[in-house]
Amino acid sequence: MTATISTSTKRQTAARAMGVTKLYGEGEAQVAALRGVDVEFHSGEFTAIMGPSGSGKSTLMHCLAGLDNLTSGEVFIGDACVSGLSDKELTELRRSRIGFIFQQFNLLPMLTAEENILLPLKIAGRKPSQDWFDRVVDTVGLGQRLGHRPTELSGGQQQRVACARALVSQPEVIFADEPTGNLDSTSGTEVLTFLQHSVRTLGQTIVMVTHDPKAASYADRVVFLADGGIVAELREPTADDVLDTMRRIDVKKGQAA
Ligand SMILES: Nc1ncnc2c1ncn2[C@@H]1O[C@H](COP(=O)(O)OP(=O)(O)OP(=O)(O)O)[C@@H](O)[C@H]1O
Ligand SMILES: [Mg+2]
Repeated sequence: MTATISTSTKRQTAARAMGVTKLYGEGEAQVAALRGVDVEFHSGEFTAIMGPSGSGKSTLMHCLAGLDNLTSGEVFIGDACVSGLSDKELTELRRSRIGFIFQQFNLLPMLTAEENILLPLKIAGRKPSQDWFDRVVDTVGLGQRLGHRPTELSGGQQQRVACARALVSQPEVIFADEPTGNLDSTSGTEVLTFLQHSVRTLGQTIVMVTHDPKAASYADRVVFLADGGIVAELREPTADDVLDTMRRIDVKKGQAA
């Protein structure tokens, strides 16, 4: 027990939500998307967030990344309290310390893979070391495709370009909202293997929302949301463990309704 406490206090926290609530709308139409969420994400770990549709996964991710305001509570990226930042500071924080991967890749069609990967750094006026760029491209396995435009790449390859774009600036944390949601299972596996590899070999921190138990099993830890609150957690999950937990949550939800 003591050993567990001492290891967890030594680990750095990449992102943390404390008592986060998020209400949308007003009066009769008001929806409580998050109802007092406390969760932290350790550096160098791959965490999946799962839960039924409408349980608040995307809202939590947007609040953590400073893309949406909280109704109450606090969010930290590293030691920076996001809710206390000005708009300018928030833009800077997102640009320099957070990476994003979306379901729809969001690549610019007229740029090559390499130009897409380097664009955020270019906007920020930064250059990656050639060493790091080569390592990321090597990890993504896109060495032969760097000169291609998105339309000349498969879905899986496009998403790997988006992953490399998120990784190349070495953000403290990457948030991915259903990164494999638009991919067939082979391309999905390709992207998940890559994400897992980037955590294990490059020390990246990733928080990924997914609907797919198999995708979640690539993570070190799975956090389950239901009805705007965290209801379960698994470590070193198998797809079957994840599926069982999802079923239990659904049963409880059915009983409550
Ligand atoms: N901009 C908004 N205005 C009003 N209600 C919203 C808004 N965004 C989300 N909601 C509501 O908040 C709740 C949580 O939504 P959220 O998108 O976080 O769910 P989710 O778990 O990501 O679902 P899915 O798996 O379908 O993507 C839902 O009831 C949703 O209808
Ligand atoms: Mg969502």
